[in-house]
Amino acid sequence: MTAATLADAAAHSPATTAPRFDMYQPIHKGLRTFMGDTLSRLGRVDVTDAEDLAEALGQLESLLDFCAKHVQHENEFIHTAIRARQPAAASRTIDDHAEHLQSIDALHKEARAVYDADDAQRHVLALRLYRHLALFVAENLQHMHIEETANNAALWAHYTDEELVAIHDRLLATIGPADMMLGMRWMVPALTPQQRAGMLGEMKAGAPAEVVAAVVNVARPHLAARDWAKLTRDVGLAA
Ligand SMILES: [Fe+2]
Repeated sequence: MTAATLADAAAHSPATTAPRFDMYQPIHKGLRTFMGDTLSRLGRVDVTDAEDLAEALGQLESLLDFCAKHVQHENEFIHTAIRARQPAAASRTIDDHAEHLQSIDALHKEARAVYDADDAQRHVLALRLYRHLALFVAENLQHMHIEETANNAALWAHYTDEELVAIHDRLLATIGPADMMLGMRWMVPALTPQQRAGMLGEMKAGAPAEVVAAVVNVARPHLAARDWAKLTRDVGLAA
């Protein structure tokens, strides 16, 4: 990140701001966790162990598919909303998204090449894939910061929180059950206890009990005992 970018980001993130509806933050926390975990998973993969290799590359493919859908959601709902009221805004992250889709395609091909390689080549190709995923993650970390600062500033300048919640609800309505559960698996453990209780509490108030139970089941194995205790206390879940 350049000094100019950092200064620009700082200008959009003053220390004290009245809280506004932030549709980026929870899913981005989940994505940062998903990316970091997948990168470290790939860094320690045993390419001589077919089962371990399949598991690590399977997680990578799952991450890449999730990232591609995330880009589509942001293009369709968030960039469209920003451009509708500030036509010149969000150009940086719109361009980033086009690059991300190319990187995702390239990483899929590199993953396939690791599967297809002979034993002698597999170590080299797996290390190359690990390094290229690291660069993709680095780019995404900077990109998400711009979205959470500059893009949020544009959204907050032109929309009320009520309008932003409605845009976000329309986005969520396009996500299928499997992708929703995958998102919850990474997002719920990545939130603060307060955010987690808020999200599960809202869900408990509005969604069928079996949906809440499914979300809790997918997240619980990835929660520390301390966080699980807080969630059961704050949301009234059965321990
Ligand atoms: Fe994005």
